[in-house]
This record gives sequence, C-alpha cells and structure tokens, in this order.
Amino acid sequence: MFFPDENVLCIDQAGADFTSVPRRERERASRFQFVARKNSYLLGRLAVFELLRRIYDGQSLEEVEIINSSLAHEHGQPRIKTNGQTKGHISITHSEQMAACAFNFYHPIGIDLEKVAHRDESFTSQVFLPEEIQYIQSFHQSRQREIITLFWTAKEAMAKCLGLGLSISTKSISVQLDGEKLNFSDDTTLQPIRISGSVRQTQRTFRFKLKARRILNAKGDVFFLTVASECH
Ligand SMILES: CC(C)(COP(=O)(O)OP(=O)(O)OC[C@H]1O[C@@H](n2cnc3c(N)ncnc32)[C@H](O)[C@@H]1OP(=O)(O)O)[C@@H](O)C(=O)NCCC(=O)NCCS
Repeated sequence: MFFPDENVLCIDQAGADFTSVPRRERERASRFQFVARKNSYLLGRLAVFELLRRIYDGQSLEEVEIINSSLAHEHGQPRIKTNGQTKGHISITHSEQMAACAFNFYHPIGIDLEKVAHRDESFTSQVFLPEEIQYIQSFHQSRQREIITLFWTAKEAMAKCLGLGLSISTKSISVQLDGEKLNFSDDTTLQPIRISGSVRQTQRTFRFKLKARRILNAKGDVFFLTVASECH
C-alpha cells in the first residue's frame, strides 16, 4: 500500500487484510457471484477506508458508507456518506490485482488505473483523436503501449470525475501532455506526469488538470495511475 499523493492511495491485493473493511461492505461484497469481482470491490473499499483513516486521523469511521449512485447521469459513481449525508468526493479504480482511490473534500475527483498491455490499432483509432494518435506515433513502437495506456487512464479519469463514465464518447475527451516530451523508463517510475484535458458536451467544455504516475507492482507489471480534477 502506498500514497502517491496525500489524497490518493494505491493498494496491491497481495497481503491485503480485508478484515479492516467495515462489515456492511464485506456483506455487500459477498453478494457478488464472481470471486474476481468480489475481490476487486473489496480491494477498492479497503483502499477507501485506509485513505480515510489517514485523512481523518483516528476519528471513527463507523458511520461512513460508500454508495454507488443510482442517478441516471452518474450511474455507478461512488459517493461517500456519513450518517446519510454526502461528505467529500471519492473515486475508485481497479486493475488486475491492484486498486486505487482518491478523495477530495470539496470537488469531484476521478481516478483510473490500467495495466500496460498491448492494445491493437482498432482500439487506438476508436478511442483517440487524430492529434493524440499523432503524438502516440511520435514514440518508438516499443513505448507506444505505455503512452496509449497513459492517455486511456486520463480519459477515463475525466469521465469518472464528471460521473459520466464511458457513457460518453472517448472522442469527446481530449488529452494533452503539459511540458516536455515524455521519457518512459524505470527511473521515471512514480514521478508525476502533468496532463491537461477537456471533455466536450453539447452545451459546455469541462477543463481538467491531471496528474499521472507510472507504477511497477511487485510482479514487475507496469501500470499508469491518473487522477483528474476539474479546473475551477
Ligand atoms: C466508470 C467506468 C468507466 C469504469 O470502468 P473500468 O475501467 O472498467 O473500471 P475501474 O475499475 O477503473 O472503475 C470502476 C469503479 O468506477 C466507479 N464508477 C462506476 N461508474 C462510475 C461513474 N459513472 N462515474 C464515476 N465513477 C464510476 C465505481 O466506483 C467502480 O468501482 P466499484 O463498482 O467497485 O465501486 C465504467 O464502468 C462506466 O463507464 N460506467 C458507466 C456506464 C454508464 O453510465 N452507462 C450508462 C448507460 S446504462
């Protein structure tokens, strides 16, 4: 378990102790049919409660509940409730045997974690805008899967911040690196990568600041973890 930022926690299932997840969350998890889903749900909840324990520093979390919103426009977005009242904003993500969460007292936040893996050309052309594809192709082929995964996490993090998830087209979301061209290597693992992005909806354009990190897990797999907050 580690904290890439004070309001972000990333956790590996290896060695995770689910007994610190509140009983009602464990009961909810037991209703999932598939073990992998039950574990990902529990790991996400464990991440949230560990992060809140640190933020609330010793205060009781007995009354804290995480509810996946059933409102049509934010279907599935997690909400944090204390004594039935929403207090603060959270976002949860899982990938393989890892999970991460982010918390913000005042503003919605979105987080996404993805393992670097091969994604074929049809994925790239379906998901990315022409200028993003151009940027991806400016990298040596051996690095392209990393930048594709990074950009993908950025798009998902923004969609989650808005509570829309991928009910919106990924091409209405644009991603752009701030600063110099990226240099991916094990030396740059965990270094913050600054990204700007926007989501175009019919009436409005929402602008975001994002912070990403390249992560290596215990098995040596590479992931990207990206957190999005809207610019106000
Ligand atoms: C949100 C979404 C992009 C996540 O995709 P993913 O990469 O497979 O999964 P991740 O592990 O990164 O994230 C899953 C978490 O996202 C959160 N989430 C789900 N829907 C969300 C939404 N609309 N906004 C923000 N967060 C959401 C949940 O906390 C979920 O974890 P949990 O179920 O354990 O609580 C995807 O589930 C989605 O698009 N959902 C919405 C679909 C939708 O609205 N459809 C409308 C037509 S029915």
